[in-house]
Amino acid sequence: MSSRKFFVGGNWKMNGDKESLGELIMTLNTASLNDETEVVCGAPSIYLDYVRSELDQRIGVAAQNCYKVPKGAFTGEISPAMIKDCCVEWVILGHSERRHVFGESDELIGQKVAHCLENDLGVIACIGEKLEEREAGTTEDVVFEQTNVIADNVKDWTRVVIAYEPVWAIGTGKTATPDQAQEVHEKLRGWLRANVSDAVADSVRIIYGGSVSGGNCKELAAQPDIDGFLVGGASLKPEFVDIINART
Ligand code: PGA
Repeated sequence: MSSRKFFVGGNWKMNGDKESLGELIMTLNTASLNDETEVVCGAPSIYLDYVRSELDQRIGVAAQNCYKVPKGAFTGEISPAMIKDCCVEWVILGHSERRHVFGESDELIGQKVAHCLENDLGVIACIGEKLEEREAGTTEDVVFEQTNVIADNVKDWTRVVIAYEPVWAIGTGKTATPDQAQEVHEKLRGWLRANVSDAVADSVRIIYGGSVSGGNCKELAAQPDIDGFLVGGASLKPEFVDIINART
């Protein structure tokens, strides 16, 4: 196993209310969690303050998106400064739903990455190919290009986690096999080695997302280049604890 600290993110997306999230928070606060694993929960922006005040401090909190400037006339957006003001330390950027439902470009995602890092917010940067791209054999081209735009905007990699999430596996119950995921993670690490540095390739966590569950997490977690997970649906259920403890 590598020396990279295992990282499990929950992406609650646009789900829950104070009551149901309160129950989930209670489950997490009282669970026995492997302290070798870094855990971060991505809450809806309107609940960031609430979640940060209720969730045990051993668990981090992430926003699910933000804008690329500190303030101004951008109705409906939130800034890294506001996220930090709620004592939240992470943000998920470039999630496939941001890319494909809300039409965010690689360029915009890159600008957000740069601004968040300048404001000392940790970034979970998401990449991943669509089904037609995988079937056309262009997975590598797609994820390398997405990574390239992110990398152009990163000076300090210590606050960056890369989440490889094949779009066809998100919310579909169709997980990438451990071999399929490991293959892409290994290539991404190779890309970092060739284009950034050995130190960054060796230290950056590359986590997998796409229908991760209590049932498939252990086998995925055993792959040498899978350093954790970004979990959607299952992060809203008590089985999230099993996923956090996948390497236990
Ligand atoms: P899923 O979502 O676990 O529900 O597939 C993962 C994600 O979108 O991050």
